[in-house]
Amino acid sequence: MKAKDKKNKESVIWTEKYRPKHFSEVIGHPAIVKRAKAFVEAQNMPHLLFSGPAGSGKTTLALVIAKKFFGSAWKENFLELNASDERGIDVVRQKVKSFARTKSFTSPFKIIFLDESDALTKEAQQALRRTMEMFTETCRFILSCNVSSKIIDPIQSRCSVFRFKLFDKKDIAKNIERIAKGEKFKINSKATEILHNISKGDMRRVINILQASASITNNINENIIYEIIAEAKPVDIKAILELALKGSFIDARNKLLDTMLKQGLGGLDIIKAIQKEVWNLSLDDKEKIKLIEKCGETEFRLVEGSDDFIQLEALLASFILARK
Ligand SMILES: Nc1ncnc2c1ncn2[C@@H]1O[C@H](COP(=O)(O)OP(=O)(O)O)[C@@H](O)[C@H]1O
Ligand SMILES: [Mg+2]
Repeated sequence: MKAKDKKNKESVIWTEKYRPKHFSEVIGHPAIVKRAKAFVEAQNMPHLLFSGPAGSGKTTLALVIAKKFFGSAWKENFLELNASDERGIDVVRQKVKSFARTKSFTSPFKIIFLDESDALTKEAQQALRRTMEMFTETCRFILSCNVSSKIIDPIQSRCSVFRFKLFDKKDIAKNIERIAKGEKFKINSKATEILHNISKGDMRRVINILQASASITNNINENIIYEIIAEAKPVDIKAILELALKGSFIDARNKLLDTMLKQGLGGLDIIKAIQKEVWNLSLDDKEKIKLIEKCGETEFRLVEGSDDFIQLEALLASFILARK
């Protein structure tokens, strides 16, 4: 069977749909979960440093902590930022400042989650350390990084460090089972094992390949998985945009989703590729500029932590509107 779109795709990314919301849903990491729970019970916590590879569950745990600390008011009291954003530490500081200026009504502090903290230079980390100190009354930081040795000592010593390991075979099988139940597909044990081998324990990759596979068949076996992996070609953003300009919104959207899933690309990777490709489209300059502006807007929202796929879908819609 060819890995083509056999079923109508939903525009829901499973990594979001199945992201644990409660401690009870968090798979694996028993020692880490235990410590995090204790903070919530005590209604207090120090700054935290989450270190570990991509797809090991850092963002997920930070979100669960925030939801448990703040309940339904979590969105007002939780700020997610990305340090690898080229606007760098100044933007981070400015955002932290305006977020931290007001005290939380419902909790003794607010939480700021700073993803990819190890992307900051040493100087920027010094600035971050001063910012953390300045707002320590009203804010707790959860810093996330791949490698904790890239984080300067003065920050490490101010944080409680959590080391995330990649998920083992048992954890991955458990999550696959949960998703299979929710999405009503079958998967054989060979396929589950191969998913573990290919992903090396990166849960995001497991779920993305799973979603791509399930868009082809309700009966997933090892052959489908291999087919999906083999089909992960370099991003064909141009084809996606041309579909949108032709007015085939659904096709463009499906191809975009496919690309994101099979290659495990994040929204920001896609935006950068789109920005480059806009100049090669057959539109007049005025329209191109409008689209570039839209790209900037989308990028901004993504950095602020909006749902990747929803934002990209909206961007595709603006390409449809731009066509002559
Ligand atoms: N402990 C967990 N149990 C079940 N699923 C998880 C867990 N941690 C992560 N996931 C799934 O894996 C995806 C990627 O995890 P994420 O927390 O974003 O990783 P990281 O921030 O370390 O790169 C999430 O969207 C979620 O669906
Ligand atoms: Mg993350």
